Amino acid sequence: MKPKIMVLNGPNLNLLGVRQPQIYGHDTLADIESRLRTRARSHELAVDMRQSNHEGELVTWIQGARTTCVGIIINPAAYTHTSVAILDALLACDLPVIEVHLSNPHKREDFRHRSFVTLAAKGVIAGFGAHGYELALDAMAKLVEDQRVPAKPAKRAGKKRRTN
Ligand code: DQA
Repeated sequence: MKPKIMVLNGPNLNLLGVRQPQIYGHDTLADIESRLRTRARSHELAVDMRQSNHEGELVTWIQGARTTCVGIIINPAAYTHTSVAILDALLACDLPVIEVHLSNPHKREDFRHRSFVTLAAKGVIAGFGAHGYELALDAMAKLVEDQRVPAKPAKRAGKKRRTN
């Protein structure tokens, strides 16, 4: 079975494609998911992509990822700026986390400049629209690869050479 990456999306991201396209673009979440699946195959990874408008549901999914996934990519949407619960769940799961935003929150209102989730994230990708998810998957593939314990070199067959 291929190692699995959980890709989580927070509130209102189900409306991607119709929601403020001048900020978030025209791609739907289904478009993004289909491109991620193709990309994941080239990395020998699987993706489990989900969206919820409910903080508790996201927390439950993060807890589940602890034992089923090797990394989490998350666009927590508005919960980025408010949710200690999501931060704590990410810290508890002890997996590599990459935070993604379609827009660049630092170019927007002041209240979007603070991210709780960043405290649990290895890195953040923001401002590249839907393409940011693919960039995050590439970065995650590298993290997962680097974490793999290197295989022990196979013992060489043949006689031991005498040293004396
Ligand atoms: C967002 C940025 C958040 O500030 C906002 O609440 C969102 C989407 C983004 O992807 O740019 O819902 O996470």
